[in-house]
Amino acid sequence: MQIYKVGGAVRDRLLGRPVTDIDWVVVGATTEEMLAKGFRPVGADFPVFLHPKSGEEYALARTERKSGRGYGGFTFHASPEVTLEEDLIRRDLTINAMAEDDQQNLTDPYHGQRDLEARLLRHVSPAFTEDPLRVLRVARFAARYAGLGFTVAPETLALMRQLSESGELEALTAERSWKEIARALMEDQPQVFIQVLRECGALKVLMPEVDALFGVPQPEAHHPEIDTGVHTLSVLEQAAQHKQPLTVRWACLLHDLGKGLTPEEEWPRHIAHEHKGLKLIKAVNERFKAPKDCQELALLVGEYHTHGHRALELKPSTLLELLQSFDVYRRPQRFEEFIAACEMDARGRKGLEQRSYPQADYLRGAATAARSVAVQPLLEKGFKGPELGEAIKRERLKALKAYKEQA
Ligand code: CTP
Repeated sequence: MQIYKVGGAVRDRLLGRPVTDIDWVVVGATTEEMLAKGFRPVGADFPVFLHPKSGEEYALARTERKSGRGYGGFTFHASPEVTLEEDLIRRDLTINAMAEDDQQNLTDPYHGQRDLEARLLRHVSPAFTEDPLRVLRVARFAARYAGLGFTVAPETLALMRQLSESGELEALTAERSWKEIARALMEDQPQVFIQVLRECGALKVLMPEVDALFGVPQPEAHHPEIDTGVHTLSVLEQAAQHKQPLTVRWACLLHDLGKGLTPEEEWPRHIAHEHKGLKLIKAVNERFKAPKDCQELALLVGEYHTHGHRALELKPSTLLELLQSFDVYRRPQRFEEFIAACEMDARGRKGLEQRSYPQADYLRGAATAARSVAVQPLLEKGFKGPELGEAIKRERLKALKAYKEQA
């Protein structure tokens, strides 16, 4: 049997990027031979094994054919006769279809190295369209390697468009899509992920609520970039530049969905877009079964981001309501993430990327003031149950009034 390193490990070594996962392909072996060498089989379906010591994945060389809709609809054929070239041709991109032996000799029948040099994400063969998840994968790779100058080859974009129009994307499970979305949002240029999905028509299918923001104007005084879609991309870009966590990036992507619902006669104003957007944010959250912390933050940022921007003008009672809505006393981290998302929203505007955001410290100070109210003295005064709750609120309001006066 011959063993080769394949896929991302080869690609990233050639790009001079750190290699984390190594995938191996085994040519000329049977399942029985692998088991005899102590490899552990993974699942019942695929001829994939884990190395007895390293735990890395070793797959028997295989060919695949699509036999149904969606991700599950594959038949594959693995046998010692399947060649390395046959295994590589079923893969998604030329830069992912290279193999390397233990002497670092490269097998590159589909010119992955040439495309690495040309900075092109190009499909290997028409079999690309057999797996709709590849639309998201290519957009994710575009987001990761945009900084190196990579773009999607026009002929690959055309296949992605074909897949998007075919209805195949709807067959993807929420879990598989979310995994790609989450990874893509954590790349260096997550806005490129959304841009590429939009260019191939996949955004309209996956997140029509985000797609609808393009072409919707906002008042130029606050938004020199005008277009709401362009603004959303800039907010996401800022979030990545400021190394924000996934929760914040997800909230940034969805914060303005309500603006897509404004009747054209009301443009460029978007009255109550915060509230109108909530049902759309909820729909996107649920469509991809986003984790609970992402869902929650997206809804809170959607509803309250304008409060964040107006923090310095808010009445103490409104500030208190804001802090209560976030349950800032028990969930201080979530409030920090809200502040971060508001700041990214403020900076994700053309020419305003470097602006300062005094609202952030002001909100932090307000949270500290409200949290400083001690409960013990109120208990000692004999407050209980709902009355205790009211008394705490009164004290917090007093603290916020004092805070606002001295700020
Ligand atoms: N692959 C594919 N089509 C898919 C998934 C995977 O062709 N839908 C192939 C590609 O050759 C890929 C390899 O399987 O390089 C390994 O897949 P995976 O580990 O998911 O991705 P990597 O390319 O290693 O990339 P990453 O750095 O994102 O993990």
